[in-house]
Amino acid sequence: MRSPIALVVDDDANFRISLEVLVAREGFLTRSAGSLAEARARLAEGGAPDVVLLDLSLPDGDGLDWIRSEEAIAGAEVIVITGSSSVESAVAALRDGALDYLTKPIDRARLGTALMNVARTRALKQELGTLRDELRELGRFGRLVGRSKAMLDVYDLIARVAPTDATVLITGESGTGKELVAETIHERSRRRDATLVPINCGAVSPSLIESELFGHERGSFTGADRQRKGYFEQAHGGTLFLDEVTEMPLELQVKLLRVLETGRLVRVGGTEPLVVDVRIVAATNRDPQAAVKAGQLREDLFYRLNVFPIALPPLRSRAEDIEFLADHFLAELNRGSERPKRWSRAALDRLRQNPWPGNVRELRNVVHRAYILGEAEIEPDVLPPLPGVPGPREARSVFEVKVGTSIAEVEKQLILATLAQSGGDKRRAAEILGMSLKTLYTRLNVYQASGALDRGAAASQR
Ligand SMILES: Nc1ncnc2c1ncn2[C@@H]1O[C@H](COP(=O)(O)OP(=O)(O)OP(=O)(O)O)[C@@H](O)[C@H]1O
Ligand SMILES: [Mg+2]
Repeated sequence: MRSPIALVVDDDANFRISLEVLVAREGFLTRSAGSLAEARARLAEGGAPDVVLLDLSLPDGDGLDWIRSEEAIAGAEVIVITGSSSVESAVAALRDGALDYLTKPIDRARLGTALMNVARTRALKQELGTLRDELRELGRFGRLVGRSKAMLDVYDLIARVAPTDATVLITGESGTGKELVAETIHERSRRRDATLVPINCGAVSPSLIESELFGHERGSFTGADRQRKGYFEQAHGGTLFLDEVTEMPLELQVKLLRVLETGRLVRVGGTEPLVVDVRIVAATNRDPQAAVKAGQLREDLFYRLNVFPIALPPLRSRAEDIEFLADHFLAELNRGSERPKRWSRAALDRLRQNPWPGNVRELRNVVHRAYILGEAEIEPDVLPPLPGVPGPREARSVFEVKVGTSIAEVEKQLILATLAQSGGDKRRAAEILGMSLKTLYTRLNVYQASGALDRGAAASQR
């Protein structure tokens, strides 16, 4: 196999030469250029580089504009080099497809990892390209199902961003698949053999979240009887999924930002900074810009997270996916059954007209219930009525409690029924129930552990 080729572009000759030496030690054939004109000349000599290490401010132009325009390096990975003061432009470069960025002075270990990722990334990109074409046809990507134009665009974004280390911010209404997207990104990244650690920022109590995230040293607070690794450390080499990120307490957002900027953290009660290699994927079902305006999300953190935004479309805006998903979920339920069921025309029409405030999650629950209650050909009578049409659902918003039922059971039924009515929107359900979002999550975790969730949710809609 031929040695990979690296092109080093930097106008500081001393720096360039020492960087070339380091890159050569990592097994690359190197070439170098002190300006964009020279870089173009090197490329014209042939032998396309596998990686370009590029200083962004060059005497004859902006390195960033060059990457965007140059055909010749389209196939190469770009690693951007910046002074530590210009992290903003490095973030912009990541958004334009750069693989990574290094700050001056160059840290040898960081350079080594960045170069090692070049080969992995190129292989992954190829694999993803083929996979994407195959799966687009079938209307699925990773765990995601759907073949509307809007979803195909989402698949493309995932395919582009997954192999990089760029931070991703996923937005979308409740039940649109944000967590599935986070999982798909992780599974399609070079981090897939390490763990994806999910943390729900809305579900952890504000007093504990700092030590949950960053860990703590023994004796750092009452009850800290031993040292504990936080989620960041657990996700080392992998991905940290910060779900409902707008719910994070503001003072913690400051600390999170610092960790993201330095790649180092200090455990609660500790003094030694630890280096962590974690890719961040964040999600929210609110409009993050509105959360910034409302003072709930720090603007600087927002920009840091929003390097690569992915917005998931609500189900009602992609009508063709409703039928496709309904068929998909029904086929899953039919699998292995001797009496497979199918949709009647009228049932499909009803599904298409529903506004789906709870999006795909709600659709999946509705299909589940219809499968249980419906005949071989499923008719609309086992589907929820359309809003504004008085139907059996009104009656269903009342449930009877037999004397002799435990309070815990009544609470469970009420919670699940409220959740079903709010279309799976936990924040809304918590408001209606008059309980904190955190308490709601705690209860749901218990129900999930006891396996009651899906059955309960299906039953409560009956
Ligand atoms: N595109 C999709 N293909 C297949 N299933 C999907 C898709 N989108 C969502 N789902 C289903 O809906 C459920 C909810 O998805 P997910 O948990 O990712 O939503 P979410 O956007 O994170 O919602 P929330 O804001 O309430 O946390 C999933 O468990 C999955 O069954
Ligand atoms: Mg979610």
